[in-house]
Amino acid sequence: MPKILFQDDGKTIEAKDGESILQAALRSGVHIEHNCGGVCACSTCHVIVEQGIDHLSPMQEDEEDQLDEAEGLTLKSRLSCQALVHGDIVVRIPLCTKGGHEH
Ligand code: FES
Repeated sequence: MPKILFQDDGKTIEAKDGESILQAALRSGVHIEHNCGGVCACSTCHVIVEQGIDHLSPMQEDEEDQLDEAEGLTLKSRLSCQALVHGDIVVRIPLCTKGGHEH
């Protein structure tokens, strides 16, 4: 099973092949914001894929549009509810890197 390492807290979880990063995280008790419930209508589930971006499903147009709204956007950014995992990856959650101070 593909593994997802969350760089912020050093936690590694297992994902089912073809599961979204968000689904795998929530199932394993890792909190990622998901205001729209995972239907690509917000950008709060934004994650930065530090390694293994090729192991994710290709980005679709609606994800690209929605991702434009994300805070702290990088070239390695994905919406975790839309990116399906097919191999090991390392991610960071941008909203969690501010020492609990979110706005
Ligand atoms: S949870 Fe809203 S876009 Fe992913």
